[in-house]
Amino acid sequence: MTGAAAAPRDVAARATAGFRQRYGAEPAGRWAAPGRVNLIGEHTDYNDGFVLPFALPLRTVVAAAVRPDTCWTVWSELADDVVEFGPKEADEPGRVTGWAAYVAGVVWALRATGHAVPGARFAIASDVPVGSGLSSSAAIESAVLAALVELGGLDLPAARWPRLAQRAENEYVGAPTGIMDQSAVIRGRAGHALFLDCRTEEVEQIPFDLDSAGLAMLVIDSRAPHRHADGEYASRRKSCEEAARSLGVPALRDVRVTGLDAALGRLSNDETRRRVRHVVTEDQRVLDTVALLRAGRVRDIGPLLTGSHASMRDDFEITVPEVDTAVEAALAAGAYGARMTGGGFGGCVLALVDASSADAVAAAVTAAYADRGFAAPGTLTVLPATGATRLD
Ligand code: GLA
Repeated sequence: MTGAAAAPRDVAARATAGFRQRYGAEPAGRWAAPGRVNLIGEHTDYNDGFVLPFALPLRTVVAAAVRPDTCWTVWSELADDVVEFGPKEADEPGRVTGWAAYVAGVVWALRATGHAVPGARFAIASDVPVGSGLSSSAAIESAVLAALVELGGLDLPAARWPRLAQRAENEYVGAPTGIMDQSAVIRGRAGHALFLDCRTEEVEQIPFDLDSAGLAMLVIDSRAPHRHADGEYASRRKSCEEAARSLGVPALRDVRVTGLDAALGRLSNDETRRRVRHVVTEDQRVLDTVALLRAGRVRDIGPLLTGSHASMRDDFEITVPEVDTAVEAALAAGAYGARMTGGGFGGCVLALVDASSADAVAAAVTAAYADRGFAAPGTLTVLPATGATRLD
């Protein structure tokens, strides 16, 4: 031990302590943004379709203050290093790399849309695990964005933040993702899932009260090693866009289940047909899930979750043995439904379970993993939490 005080456990306290230690000053404020899971609606966002994510209680906190010049300094406990950049690096997508690119991307997106972004110092602490598919990157982007908007007194209503943070990720970082993650992280509300129409960006907060139904949402981190997830994501997106062009529609959202067979009949490639079938049926599963939740029938969404998983496994082909094992084991142990959440090729699985059996389901998944020789999964239960916010 060096004699330094042990890091405080609370994420907001860690961000503040990091700020004081790095910059020898008090932050002007702290802004938090959560990770997310998607209840249902996978790979539908960039097809202009429907998604139903919710914000997690795990959060990233940014302690921040303006600095007198137009430069940005960022420290993160995740890498325990400091990155500094000026307007030159911020204005050239790709110049800042690694975790700090999410911060530089937000500065870039704000400047590119004509905002006068103040120079600032940031200290970032996070409870959102990196690489588990819980949108740790959207959490950083959104917390930094919230901080800069307020520190700079920028005229930017929160409804426009998701598109701006998505631009940071698409155009500065270079990941061709949709708008779901940033929307969930920014617009999520405690006790609710966010029903988002990704074409119009209209949202509806859908009550998702697990507690009073005696239910729990188990999140299982598959711990599957990344297997070319970025390239696979981009290729899925490309197939969907090409399929929409062949079908003469602006996006696959414009093909509804009632017209699915006719649309499939016009596509000659079997793989493309399966990709289209996933997206079109997944949009419908989102609408069906929303209808059940509006009617208070939370347990009944289970088969839709499991159906979504089968579609991702068989038609969209984005699952891996670890997530399939977790889903099968959770269902065998009594889950009402289970599915992989997020972009695929690893990440987390959601299982809807009776609150009283969450531990038993987690144990069953862990045992199934041991049988297959996989590294032990992580498990936790979550409730929908609040989106990006200023803490004090
Ligand atoms: C990732 C992307 C999202 C979305 C999902 C799949 O999380 O960031 O935009 O496309 O994959 O639903």
